[in-house]
Amino acid sequence: MILNMLVPALILGIAGLDFNSCSLKVFFPAFAEDFQNQGTGLPGKRCHQNLLVEYSHIICGDIFHRAMMSISRENWCVLDNILMPYNTMTICLEKLSDRVGCYYPNPNIQDFFIQIHSSYFQNCSNEELLMVDAPQGLVIALTLIPVSVIPILVYLVIWKSKVQE
Ligand SMILES: *[C@@H]1O[C@H](CO)[C@@H](O)[C@H](O)[C@H]1NC(C)=O
Repeated sequence: MILNMLVPALILGIAGLDFNSCSLKVFFPAFAEDFQNQGTGLPGKRCHQNLLVEYSHIICGDIFHRAMMSISRENWCVLDNILMPYNTMTICLEKLSDRVGCYYPNPNIQDFFIQIHSSYFQNCSNEELLMVDAPQGLVIALTLIPVSVIPILVYLVIWKSKVQE
């Protein structure tokens, strides 16, 4: 459950993307590709989109709203604070989609997430997520250091073997 959120969080950190525009794709990398390839209903079921839209707001959206209300507004952009509510909402939406015969994710769910993001994370700037952005530099450094050491090692090995000859 936690891992479910941690992996996207890691991707978010590595990609250093901003919360507003890119988080959908970041949180659900499979989103864009998957839902287009699927029919609207689960096998043998009809996807009740109207129920999905209605209940996603009055059930999952409400649960999320209550959780967000327990966090002070200035902390809404702190990823650590929103991981749990966000995860709970995601699970809620997954279950709901299944109950009303729809695949998850789907376009209605995507719209729902866009609404959630624009109403709760609209003011989250890159600066506020700087902490999340930081690993990007680290990742680059950790990639470049070993790579740049390889030629030096190769040179040393050749030089060493020449000396021994
Ligand atoms: C974002 O900022 C605007 C203007 O300062 C404010 O009206 C709005 O309530 C803020 N939204 C959130 C989710 O904090």
